[in-house]
Amino acid sequence: MKLLVTGGAGFIGSNFINYWLKNYPDDFIVNLDKLTYAGNLENLKDLKNNQNYKFIKGDICDFDLVNELISDKVDLIVHFAAESHVDRSLMSSRDFVRTNVEGALSLLDAAKNNGGVRFHHISTDEVFGDLSLAGKAFTEKSPYNPRNPYSASKAAADHLVRAYYHTHGLPVTISNCSNNYGPYHFPEKMIPLFITNLLEGKRVPLYGDGKNIRDWIYVDDHNRGVDFIIKKGKIGETYCLGGNGEITNIELTKKILKLMDKGDEMIEFIEDRPGHDLRYAMDYSKAKNELGWQPQISLEQGLAQTIDWYKNNRQWWQNVKSGDYQEYYKKQYQGNV
Ligand code: NAD
Ligand code: DAU
Repeated sequence: MKLLVTGGAGFIGSNFINYWLKNYPDDFIVNLDKLTYAGNLENLKDLKNNQNYKFIKGDICDFDLVNELISDKVDLIVHFAAESHVDRSLMSSRDFVRTNVEGALSLLDAAKNNGGVRFHHISTDEVFGDLSLAGKAFTEKSPYNPRNPYSASKAAADHLVRAYYHTHGLPVTISNCSNNYGPYHFPEKMIPLFITNLLEGKRVPLYGDGKNIRDWIYVDDHNRGVDFIIKKGKIGETYCLGGNGEITNIELTKKILKLMDKGDEMIEFIEDRPGHDLRYAMDYSKAKNELGWQPQISLEQGLAQTIDWYKNNRQWWQNVKSGDYQEYYKKQYQGNV
């Protein structure tokens, strides 16, 4: 099988490519990535001599390019490429709409143009909006209620994917997943930011009162879920994937501090994120009952593994934290940490 993976130099996409070629070494993967600040070919260094892997630097919004790539006998498109960071979407939203909406459209058109190529869209639990503490976890039937520019752009892409299924019969599936963590996670996101700050002897910036809740899933569990959907999912359907990892940000921070032998004095409470969704939680019963998928890695195990990875890969994150990242950090944290 020949796959076109978009955004394969980012966090989840690179873990996906590494996972896929380990499990299906006879498949061929073309990785199309623009190499924005978040794309890093170091994540794929183990594939340098792999004959079944090819990297193309390019933009998913470039229809001629994606059309040409897909026309070369691609059987399956797995679409990860996106602007993915909520805080950046609050600073400036344009790139989010361009890549996440127009980019998805360009891929859908090219998939349709080439006889209806199978298309899997990697989406997020954030499209469902904000859950109260007493609210039931999101399911595939939850209404869409995106509340920040990032989630609004992902919701728009989900709608386009479904529209192409209903109007053009494009063979699509969608997965909406909760918060991922693991190796190669860009240190603008909470877990890798906190781990690397602590490794640098810096404090960790916790937004608001730290009571917001996220449902954390180890990245390999997510990618195994995508594999199950690709192999066994029903065309036209959506699957929610979650990690059984609901926890408040303050509790998670304390777990990280304990695992890294640091005290609570390393926490710096800072101004809250505007429009900060209180809680995300995923009910993944459909994926469990219909596909036989469930997460396998507990938060305790995954966090310990992830901390070890950042300890053993200092060069990777020190490179990532240099250059443009410094500008972003100053702007976002305004000298607070
Ligand atoms: P990331 O920011 O680490 O990686 C995104 C990748 O897309 C980068 O390699 C970047 O260079 C590439 N890219 C950006 N714009 C592009 C363009 N116009 N053309 C080609 N490539 C482009 O993101 P991630 O955290 O790995 O997320 C991957 C996908 O998973 C996204 O669609 C995101 O919405 C979704 N998702 C993420 C999470 C999470 O917790 N990180 C959870 C659920 C869903
Ligand atoms: O839920 C899935 C989503 O998870 C994905 O769709 C997004 O692409 C991904 O970035 C992630 O979004 P979040 O906003 O939930 O992740 P982030 O790591 O930015 O923040 C996690 C929580 O931690 C959130 O409640 C905000 C808080 N936070 C984050 C940062 C960066 C802090 O308290 N301090 C911080 O410095």
